Amino acid sequence: AGELGTSTERSYVMIKPDGTSRQIVGDIISRFERRGYMLVAMKTVVPSQELAKEHYIDLAKKPFYGGLVKYITNGTPVVAMVWQGKDVIRQGRRLVGATNPLEANPGSIRGDFCVSVGRNIIHASDSHESATKEIGLWFHEKELATEYRPIAWDMI
Ligand code: PPS
Repeated sequence: AGELGTSTERSYVMIKPDGTSRQIVGDIISRFERRGYMLVAMKTVVPSQELAKEHYIDLAKKPFYGGLVKYITNGTPVVAMVWQGKDVIRQGRRLVGATNPLEANPGSIRGDFCVSVGRNIIHASDSHESATKEIGLWFHEKELATEYRPIAWDMI
């Protein structure tokens, strides 16, 4: 876990209902792990209307807001995660790929798994400000792992 432990930057990443329905949760987690990020919190959640609306509150005036909230609250669980590591906010967005799957490069999550912006599999925080807000919205402080150490193989 060489360079894993040094950065405290965190991003909120959420596998949306289409991602859990399609059973690609493991693949998505693998991509973040192998890039070098640490999973500091994870849970399945069936989001309430209230939670989904608050998460996307900045988009409240967009024409797709209603449809987006409906999609997130369709009763299928989402997987809410917090990933930590160097530049995880920007790199997380690159792993996820462009919002519109037409522009998402093959090799990115959206570029590999989807064709429609309304079913684009995954969310990742777009800034430090959003990350702080979103982590606070989806997790209690005590749900976050604060100590994450490499295994000391030589001690076993
Ligand atoms: S905007 O208009 O630039 O503020 O929006 P954008 O940053 O491209 O996208 C913000 C989030 O809205 C989702 N989105 C949509 N969902 C459903 N239908 C449509 N048409 C649509 N357009 C954008 C987009 O996936 C972003 O959600 P997250 O979960 O953050 O990826």
